[in-house]
Amino acid sequence: MPPLANKNAAELKVVPDAAVLNAAAVHEFRACAEAVAVRGRFTVALSGGNTPRGVYSLLAEQHKNTLPWDKVFIFFGDERHVPPDHPDSNYRMAREALLSKVPIPEQNVFRVRAELPADLAADQYEGELRVFFRLTAGAWPRFDLILLGIGDDGHTASLFPGTAALKEKSRLVVANWVEKFQSYRITFTYPVLNHAAEVVFLVSGKSKSQILRDIFDPAKKGSYPAQAIQPESGRLLWIADRDAASLL
Ligand code: 6PG
Repeated sequence: MPPLANKNAAELKVVPDAAVLNAAAVHEFRACAEAVAVRGRFTVALSGGNTPRGVYSLLAEQHKNTLPWDKVFIFFGDERHVPPDHPDSNYRMAREALLSKVPIPEQNVFRVRAELPADLAADQYEGELRVFFRLTAGAWPRFDLILLGIGDDGHTASLFPGTAALKEKSRLVVANWVEKFQSYRITFTYPVLNHAAEVVFLVSGKSKSQILRDIFDPAKKGSYPAQAIQPESGRLLWIADRDAASLL
């Protein structure tokens, strides 16, 4: 299998199926939560879409009483431009699968106020990140863990092919217009994603096999937004089930 052509060699873990993928992701979450012992808190940005739902449910089921939820701080790597109770809301999905089932203080959950105009929602979320991480000008937040997925077009978070957010170098969070959805998405930018201590991609199902193959193809380097996820000084782990990895 050709290595992902980037500065920090990505690790790829292929697991038999979605259930094992969920367990492997929960294992990573727990391992990264050791940050509490080192830094007194664990900062994590959740991914949206369908793939992580099973991970969040398993996390709630297995670790409701074994993780220091009062020291876990939850953010979202991206959000759809919808209110928090909308069926497409990433926050709603995470609340239903995880956040409503574990003893995490409400003030530890930082959702995108996506009910607001998109630019305002992005500005506010950036402001919250700057305050929470006590950022000085030009500094980037360093999440302990960021979970990501990929779309079959190679997007990740809400960094879609051909969109303006791909070029963003100074903002932490932007409202990104996505033509095919005729809608904005609110998303972390590459500098935030690439300053994380650990980034974990979760990829499941046959429908992702072609794009995963393309992303790992050095000849297609620079073709897909997900390929630009290259943590500066962090770990990059891809967890894919056998179906998703079937063309590698
Ligand atoms: C979102 C996500 C997005 C997602 C991919 C994969 O808001 O949709 O953050 O980047 O990870 O679209 O989605 P699935 O897991 O549903 O295939």
